Amino acid sequence: MIEAYSATSQARVNAALDTLFTAPGPELARLYEAMRYSVMNGGKRVRPLLAYAACEALGGKAEQANGAACAVELIHAYSLVHDDLPAMDDDDLRRGQPTTHKKFDEACAILAGDGLQSLAFSALLDPRLSTIDAQISLQMLSALALAAGPAGMVGGQAIDLGSVGLKLDQKALEYMHRHKTGALIEVSVKLGALASGRAEKDELKSLQTYALAIGLAFQVQDDILDVESDTETLGKRQGADIARDKPTYPALLGLDAAKAYALELRDQALHALRPFDAAAEPLRDLARYIVERRS
Ligand code: IPE
Ligand code: IPE
Ligand code: MG
Ligand code: MG
Ligand code: MG
Repeated sequence: MIEAYSATSQARVNAALDTLFTAPGPELARLYEAMRYSVMNGGKRVRPLLAYAACEALGGKAEQANGAACAVELIHAYSLVHDDLPAMDDDDLRRGQPTTHKKFDEACAILAGDGLQSLAFSALLDPRLSTIDAQISLQMLSALALAAGPAGMVGGQAIDLGSVGLKLDQKALEYMHRHKTGALIEVSVKLGALASGRAEKDELKSLQTYALAIGLAFQVQDDILDVESDTETLGKRQGADIARDKPTYPALLGLDAAKAYALELRDQALHALRPFDAAAEPLRDLARYIVERRS
């Protein structure tokens, strides 16, 4: 079920993303090529899937969330390009390919990341991708800016980089993970829900509880995979967190307790979806997938 849903949703978002990287002139060919390279290189597209699934859970059509799906994936891709830079995690491999700064150069990767971030906001409002009521568009813009910025993902990354070699307690680690990874996952669900045009206050609240739990679970599982997967399966270097002495859940709690925590978060997420009918099944499947995934 999740496989079929994923394949359809991945094809939908990939087709939409593919329209966004045409250079306006030959002098920008390299910048656009670097942006395209950073996005159209595989990737599980979990955030777009969440946006589509949230839209459908409220009775919307998945296509209504096309702008939202592209926007969250573009922010995510930009965050990865910058995360891999030598000044940050200094990684050479991403999605099984050389990282953007390795394939191009550092300055080009910084600009490609900057470009992808701006492109995310124009994609959200692009009428070729989806048509959203103006009032709802404003809510979506504001939510995405908050989640991507210093009060969200960027803030989490700052804490991450400032914590290398430190022993964070569980509260501090959770705060970091909720920001660096959770914020964008939460807003993926919220934008999808808003794009349906049918989101009621109570439903948004339940969806937020769901998203908070899977957002944290996603990074807990990412930390677990860094310990027990392999580079080939991951498409990025296994053991990178350990090598850099990063604070992670397995480092803090041990591997077994980290796994148990991921499952507990999945159950919290499923619990939050109790008021929803069968239309929320893809969201339920995604919660299970997030803690079972091997890459
Ligand atoms: C990796 O995200 C970075 C984190 C926020 C943990 P994903 O595991 O979603 O990476 P892709 O998009 O599938 O490559
Ligand atoms: C990345 O966290 C989070 C963001 C890019 C915002 P990680 O540094 O753990 O991601 P990977 O493991 O390199 O994909
Ligand atoms: Mg990092
Ligand atoms: Mg990293
Ligand atoms: Mg990681």
